Amino acid sequence: MQKIDISPIPKFTRTLVCAPDKSITHRAVMFNAAAKGKAEVRGMLLGQDCLSTIDCMRRLGASIEQKGDNAVIAGTQGFASAKLDCGNSGTTMRLLSGLAAARAGTFTLFGDQSLSSRPMRRVIDPLTAMGAQIASQEGKAPLCITGQRLHGIDYVMPVASAQVKSAVLLAGLGAEGVTRVTEKERTRDHTEILLRHMGVRITRENDCITLAGDQTLHAADVCVAGDISSAAFPLVCGLITGGRVCVHNVGLNPTRTGLLEVFDQIGADYEVADIQWNGGEKTGTVCVRGLGHGRPFAIGHDMIPRLVDEIPVLAVLACYLSGESVVTGAQELRVKESDRIAATVRLVRAFGGDAQDTPDGLIVRGVGQLAGGCTFDPALDHRMAMSAAVAAAACKKGGTVLSPACAAVSYPHFWRMLAGEQ
Ligand code: S3P
Repeated sequence: MQKIDISPIPKFTRTLVCAPDKSITHRAVMFNAAAKGKAEVRGMLLGQDCLSTIDCMRRLGASIEQKGDNAVIAGTQGFASAKLDCGNSGTTMRLLSGLAAARAGTFTLFGDQSLSSRPMRRVIDPLTAMGAQIASQEGKAPLCITGQRLHGIDYVMPVASAQVKSAVLLAGLGAEGVTRVTEKERTRDHTEILLRHMGVRITRENDCITLAGDQTLHAADVCVAGDISSAAFPLVCGLITGGRVCVHNVGLNPTRTGLLEVFDQIGADYEVADIQWNGGEKTGTVCVRGLGHGRPFAIGHDMIPRLVDEIPVLAVLACYLSGESVVTGAQELRVKESDRIAATVRLVRAFGGDAQDTPDGLIVRGVGQLAGGCTFDPALDHRMAMSAAVAAAACKKGGTVLSPACAAVSYPHFWRMLAGEQ
């Protein structure tokens, strides 16, 4: 197993362009590959997860001519029957299930060990209620989908999940009649924004999204914004070490900016500038200078969807705050690429911090500077590997992270960024 040794980086200081958004890249590629016409997607994330989506869409019959991080995509409205390797990517498997369920053909969706253990009933149930035919291994992958004529659904989401919401909306697009999705907690709305950008009639009133069936996707160019979930790693490292970190072109879609709400809670010294809009998505520059007040934070269930992927690195931040930081309503973390509640507690303790898990979250007590000097195994979970790297860079003695290559799932240049080479 490979490893990387990280020495402490006092006053971690970087100016960088944010890694492209994983959620938007998946959607830009997938939707254009199923659309009428030809379009260009610029500034794609070339992380492993998005490469899985590109590969799946090619197998389904789309033409994707890739030049670096740009791609010209000619969509296919009919899908070829195919076996589709979704790798480590829950977004690929869940969104594609919705898209494929309404198209003629037989589609087998499979993935790696982690993805094969993640819950898929959350998409199988609503899609089946729309008339889909999906065979699974007791609610887990592989999924074998036989395309059917679907009908619209009035669906109240039992879990706060943008992947589930998107799967239902994508199935609704090819179904007969209206589809309505009600979500109690607002999850990321990249799907709705992009569908609108591609000519789909889709509306939102309060917590209910409505979409008419039998609509065609029209190819549309997309310039991918930066991923705030990736920006979180250098930003938190800058905050903890008191360095100055500026990340340009960060996506600031309000359904994603829970990180900045936490920065406000702790009284951090940071600013947001250069606000722009592109294709319905807000972007800007985020610069941090230091912990400021350094008060502890409280994250409740209503905030979770806006920072669901940032909690492990926020737990590292919590070690440096005065008092007890508490996360509740985060049970979804137990079914991510790994059980991220258990993994985060393991990480904080390995570095000498004080953390304790609860059924739906965790409590981290500030200890001042972490000691470190440990080896951490992220169990192939990209966000755990990068969170451990931040802990190692900020602590007294540094640390070792095993299987560092897994960071490429969402942030291919992460280690170069950390080393100051990118
Ligand atoms: C994603 C939604 C979130 C997030 C994941 C990407 C998406 O998952 O954790 O990294 O692109 O829709 P859930 O929908 O399961 O919360």
